[in-house]
Amino acid sequence: MRRFVFSLLILSLVIFGSLPISHGQSAAIGSKVAARANSSLKLTLPVKEGSLRFAVMGDTGSGTDKQRQVANMMVQYRNIFPFDFVLMMGDNLYGSESAKDFETKFSDVYKVLLNDKVKFYATLGNHDLPMQINYANFNMNGKEYYRFKKGNVAFYSLNSNYMDKKQLAWLESELAKDTSDWKICFFHHPPYSSAKGHGSDQQLREIVEPIFLKYGVNVVLAGHDHVYERIKPQKGIYYFVSGAGGRLRESDVQTSPLVEKSFDRDMHFMLFEVVGNQMYFQAISRTGETVDSGVLVNQRKQK
Ligand SMILES: [Fe+2]
Repeated sequence: MRRFVFSLLILSLVIFGSLPISHGQSAAIGSKVAARANSSLKLTLPVKEGSLRFAVMGDTGSGTDKQRQVANMMVQYRNIFPFDFVLMMGDNLYGSESAKDFETKFSDVYKVLLNDKVKFYATLGNHDLPMQINYANFNMNGKEYYRFKKGNVAFYSLNSNYMDKKQLAWLESELAKDTSDWKICFFHHPPYSSAKGHGSDQQLREIVEPIFLKYGVNVVLAGHDHVYERIKPQKGIYYFVSGAGGRLRESDVQTSPLVEKSFDRDMHFMLFEVVGNQMYFQAISRTGETVDSGVLVNQRKQK
């Protein structure tokens, strides 16, 4: 009898959560929690049928729990905002880059997305070894800079570590013949940033900005500074800094006339949706807080 009462007590403690539960039960209850959390996620994007949807993350490769928590939030958001691919802003792996590091700092962290056939497109940061261009999951196909197209949006992944003449000539020749509605360039070093850590890379800006202007680049995405910043349009181009997907430099954003919106209290990722002449964006923190959102109008088609 005493044993029966004891068993009942154990059972009720497990049910009401006062005792730790086994791994299997934990997973089942965990998915219910995830489902509940999903219903509380705030989405500002329209999720229109046939639209182009993607995520952006930068400076991810720390292999920390917090990087995993950002990744988990991306997975949760993907349940309500199905995106097909992710742009990586560089610093994909901090520290050593052994085969094991590619797992612990990337493929394990984003396993759910990779298993779901989400494609990642990387760019090289200052911490990245050039051999990353051959890592299949980064889809760089052996190239330090490359272009790909989705729908009527062209993406240019540039290597801002070495913006040499050869790369610039390639960029110009590709842009010159590019008739896409949207042209998005992404690379590691931000041409505009107010962060204390690094700030604007003015030398880079002087080289690339005239090309962006000449050929009608719409949006420029960068990382390097471990914060979020939406820069006020510069000469008509939209600039973002998204460099806190796995590392954070807290309270790093300075008061600056450059900044439209910033967030430096936690890590984050971004979601984008292109619907015709409009590009919706939403920046989301590690904990699911929407820290910025809005819509960009195509500069060449707004009249
Ligand atoms: Fe960096």
